[in-house]
Amino acid sequence: MLLDENYKEIRDLAAKFSDNEVAPLAQEIDLNSLIPKAIIDKLYANGFMGVFVPEQYGGAGMDYLDYSIVVEELSRNCASTGVLVSAHNSLCIWPILNFGTEEQKKKFLPDLASGGKIGCFCLSEPNAGSDAGSLTTFAEDCGDHYEISGVKNFITNGKEAEIAVVFAKTSKTDNYKGISAFIVETKTEGWSILKLEDKLGIKGSSTAQIALDKVKVPKENLLGDYEKGFRVAMATLDGGRIGIAAQALGIARGAFEYALNYSKERVQFGKPISHLQAVQFMLADMSTKIAASKLLIYDSSIRKNKSENYSLQAAQAKLFAAEAAMWITTKAIQVCGGNGYTKEYPVERYFRDAKITEIYEGTSEVQRLVIASSELKK
Ligand code: CAA
Repeated sequence: MLLDENYKEIRDLAAKFSDNEVAPLAQEIDLNSLIPKAIIDKLYANGFMGVFVPEQYGGAGMDYLDYSIVVEELSRNCASTGVLVSAHNSLCIWPILNFGTEEQKKKFLPDLASGGKIGCFCLSEPNAGSDAGSLTTFAEDCGDHYEISGVKNFITNGKEAEIAVVFAKTSKTDNYKGISAFIVETKTEGWSILKLEDKLGIKGSSTAQIALDKVKVPKENLLGDYEKGFRVAMATLDGGRIGIAAQALGIARGAFEYALNYSKERVQFGKPISHLQAVQFMLADMSTKIAASKLLIYDSSIRKNKSENYSLQAAQAKLFAAEAAMWITTKAIQVCGGNGYTKEYPVERYFRDAKITEIYEGTSEVQRLVIASSELKK
């Protein structure tokens, strides 16, 4: 897709950073299940931790297409780094920027965008995954503050996060109606990490189960309207899904580019395997799925920039890009044969990393529900 000059600038910056700073550490990040602090500091220094935050709040002042491009380029070499940036920007910063009061924006955004504080989003619970509205974490009204208690599951950035957007019920309903959103500082007494998940992929990205035991949250930290928290969650996930689609695209591109180069060098039957039509057909389909993913992601990012409705397009972008990434990484291993199945070659990491894009921020089945419901409403 043809990009305007200003988008090419951010693409070049993010690509250079990804190739020079992230790629050399990608395998180590996967093996050690840790993104080094030095990388995170450099993500801040380059403005990647506050891509679309206006400069007045300490951000880089760019837009949502810039943001998608940054996540894509980082994920091309390391999906763990891609999702650290994506969850932080999409799921913690965006709802504060969009639903926060001026005081909340002034208080939290500079720390998140350029001050080194990582953000997370606490919606899922052990018994509330796809059915997010059935969460049971409760925020007790205690006069000038709330006390939040409950357990949150699968929290990306949960180990490092200092600021969290937390969803809890303020009325004991059995559906989404009593949910409110809060900004919580994780150093508050009563916040603890119960466990860190050992996962198939994105191993450098922390995924925590978090307990809240009467965590005191001042009343002014209510985010958005009282008991309209489910709307905050759903609107936030619309944007988050673009970020995960961009992560899937980056993973797919990384795997494709590796397989393409490998096919030119690997000689079998007396010539490079890229001369074999069986291999060419796989490469052709991979390339086409990447191009289609890119169009869907960039289109939904541009719609978001223009404040047009993008819920349907974001779900389509995530559904398509995630399933394409899973397919492309599978074929990348196929092109690389036995070598591709070993840890000496990066394609098995891309394959493991791709799977989560079909699951988090709404499974592919949830995306299909969102798409069908949008189409049926037309
Ligand atoms: N924007 C704003 N509001 C929305 C909305 C949107 N996109 N979609 C729905 N709503 C509102 C509706 O208007 C309705 O509100 P009102 O009653 O006030 O009008 C309310 O939300 C309920 O809507 P539905 O009846 O459509 O909701 P539902 O209960 O049937 O749920 C669902 C639909 C699509 C399955 C939804 O629950 C969902 O998206 N589930 C998946 C949750 C998810 O993505 N979880 C991932 C968590 S984050 C993560 O992965 C971890 C991480 O850290 C990366």
